[in-house]
Amino acid sequence: MSVLPILIHPDPRLKKVCDPAPEPGAVSGLIADMLATMYDAPGIGLAAPQVGANTRVVVMDCAGKEAPPEPMALINPEILWSSEETNEHEEGCLSIPDQFAFVTRPAAVRVRWTTPEGAEAERLFDGLWATCVQHEIDHLNGKLFIDHIGAVRRQLITQKMKKLKRERAKA
Ligand code: NI
Repeated sequence: MSVLPILIHPDPRLKKVCDPAPEPGAVSGLIADMLATMYDAPGIGLAAPQVGANTRVVVMDCAGKEAPPEPMALINPEILWSSEETNEHEEGCLSIPDQFAFVTRPAAVRVRWTTPEGAEAERLFDGLWATCVQHEIDHLNGKLFIDHIGAVRRQLITQKMKKLKRERAKA
C-alpha cells in the first residue's frame, strides 16, 4: 500500500458525482492506499475522489488518539435515515488544509454500505462519526464542507487555496 497525493480544492475532480464502486475486490488496493494516506495526513476521514478516484468509497477512523485505531472502509455508502436533531461541528478537510468552519448537520444518521469483504453492513452513527460519515459521503456527491457555509466565507477560503496551490507549484 502507498500514501497517495491528496487533491487540493479547487479541483474539478472534487466536484464530480462519483460512480458506484464495482465488486469489493476491485477496490481493495484503493482502500489500503486510502487508509495509509488518511493515517499519514493525519486525518479522520478520506473519500476516493480526494485521491483522484471517481468511485464511491470512503475510509474513516474517528476513534481518537487515546483509543485503539478503528479503521472503517465503506463501499457505496448510502444514508437511510437522518435525525431531525442537528449538531454543529467545526469541520476541516484534507483537501482544504488548515481551514475550518462550523457546519450544521443531522446529529445522527443510519448508513448502509458494502464492506471490503463484500458483506452488507448497517450502522447508526452519532457524534463525531455522524459528522465525518456525512462529510465523506458529501465528497462522493461532489460536495465539500465549504458548500454548507456562506458564500463570502467560501470564496475567501477558495482564494486561500488557490494561493496555496500556486505556492506549492512553485516549490
Ligand atoms: Ni473532506
